[in-house]
Amino acid sequence: MTFMASIRKAVILAAGMGTRMLPATKAVPKEMLPVVDKPLIQYAVEEAVASGIEEVVFVLAEGKEAITEHFGHLSRVEAFVREKGDRDLLAQVRAPSNLARYEYVLQDRPAGIAHAVACAREFVEGEPFALIFPDDLIVSRTPCTAQLVDAYTSCGGSVIAVEQVTPEEVPSYGIVDPVGSGNPVRLKGLVEKPAAADAPSNLGVVGRYILGPSIFQHIERTPPGKNGEYQLTDALASQVAAGEPVCAYAYEGRRFDTGRPLGLLVAGVEVALCRPELREKLLPHLHRLTERSVTG
Ligand code: G1P
Repeated sequence: MTFMASIRKAVILAAGMGTRMLPATKAVPKEMLPVVDKPLIQYAVEEAVASGIEEVVFVLAEGKEAITEHFGHLSRVEAFVREKGDRDLLAQVRAPSNLARYEYVLQDRPAGIAHAVACAREFVEGEPFALIFPDDLIVSRTPCTAQLVDAYTSCGGSVIAVEQVTPEEVPSYGIVDPVGSGNPVRLKGLVEKPAAADAPSNLGVVGRYILGPSIFQHIERTPPGKNGEYQLTDALASQVAAGEPVCAYAYEGRRFDTGRPLGLLVAGVEVALCRPELREKLLPHLHRLTERSVTG
């Protein structure tokens, strides 16, 4: 029997405080910071939809109302544009609302990623689903989530996107322990943010996962871990310990950590360069700036 994956739902986590982007994130959710002319979270939804996802569950925290408004109908801006009768502009304002079906849940306290995922349980229970962190923006030929959906089909269990990280970066990532090589590769363990000396590999977890339906039972029985938070890495390690297939997948693409100023800045430049109408106008500026920095 061939194992065919059908992943219809995605959970998008948008409950973090965004402390690394203060003061920009004092009143504006970090997921609403723009890359060129769209907020980060819209890229996450577009990636999900381009990967076959039909329903998105947002896990939000207090103060993230701008996200609900962005994906909802009947915003102030929509009413204004409708009144003006500008059809093109109206289509742009409405685009985010029409990408998928949306559900919203509130995480009432910051208690870790596994806790945030558990908040979405009632909407995704009983089927595998994608998990996306919008501050990891990934530019790729095939959407990263679609790559993971394929890998899920061959793995038959949870799949985690990974990339190589340097020893200095190891303590900032979940690190996987693969069985041999291959892509996807089955795992015999995972550790959340180990010291470089204790890391089982140099493959760090990035913010894209396909989670098998048993994940909620494993989250339930996994105690708080690193930093006293409920860690998804530990719940995945529990799936591994139970003998379930769990795989890492080294995705094709470039990731930008937009939760930090430099990552957001570079993502903006790179995404702009992918848009022909902006590329032409941006390149002369970049040339001028690089020439100046070379000559001092
Ligand atoms: C989280 C996960 C970590 C993963 C990272 C990817 O950490 O706990 O395993 O490597 O996301 O972005 P955070 O960056 O939220 O501290």
